[in-house]
Amino acid sequence: MKKVTNSTEETIALGRKIGASLHGGDVVTLTGDLGSGKTTFTKGIAQALGAEGMVTSPTFTLIQVHPIKKTGEQLAHIDTYRTESIEECINAGITDMLYNKKTICVIEWPSKVKTLLKKQPIRIELKNDGESHTITFPDDLLKETHITKKNPIAYWLFFIIMIMFYTLLYQAVTK
Ligand SMILES: Nc1ncnc2c1ncn2[C@@H]1O[C@H](COP(=O)(O)OP(=O)(O)OP(=O)(O)O)[C@@H](O)[C@H]1O
Ligand SMILES: [Mg+2]
Repeated sequence: MKKVTNSTEETIALGRKIGASLHGGDVVTLTGDLGSGKTTFTKGIAQALGAEGMVTSPTFTLIQVHPIKKTGEQLAHIDTYRTESIEECINAGITDMLYNKKTICVIEWPSKVKTLLKKQPIRIELKNDGESHTITFPDDLLKETHITKKNPIAYWLFFIIMIMFYTLLYQAVTK
């Protein structure tokens, strides 16, 4: 799916929508040129997850960890732009983040660490078109199916409650 955003706020809002369907163990790769909006988009993801701390463009930090109090998970914002080697990433603890079921990883400039990815990441592409920015992402990220995967128990509980509600309503009406 492709979405065009016409302001920083719109990109943050889209990041927020997509961030709402992410959960621990997810790895999101953000590709796009300098200034295409990768960090801006990550701000929205962080907001949706309730991740603490400011999402910034790290000058020297390769990985910034933002704890998520309400779920006990964490957001790892990884930016490999200034990295010299894959060893540097490993020494900084990238694999602890990538293979942790309680960590949502968002990676800017992912090509440098792609050999470390064990499963298919959620790929998001950003492009600065001058006036606007275009963001391309998998269709199912905005669909309910992805969200229900996050909490299947709540999903089924909702169905059971609805069935009970309509049964009671039917009994009351037919009395
Ligand atoms: N529609 C838009 N979407 C995203 N950013 C926008 C938009 N319009 C203007 N901007 C501005 O463009 C800049 C994007 O910078 P950002 O740091 O998010 O890019 P980046 O892809 O992370 O860059 P880098 O590769 O240097 O890390 C910000 O200053 C932001 O305010
Ligand atoms: Mg950035």
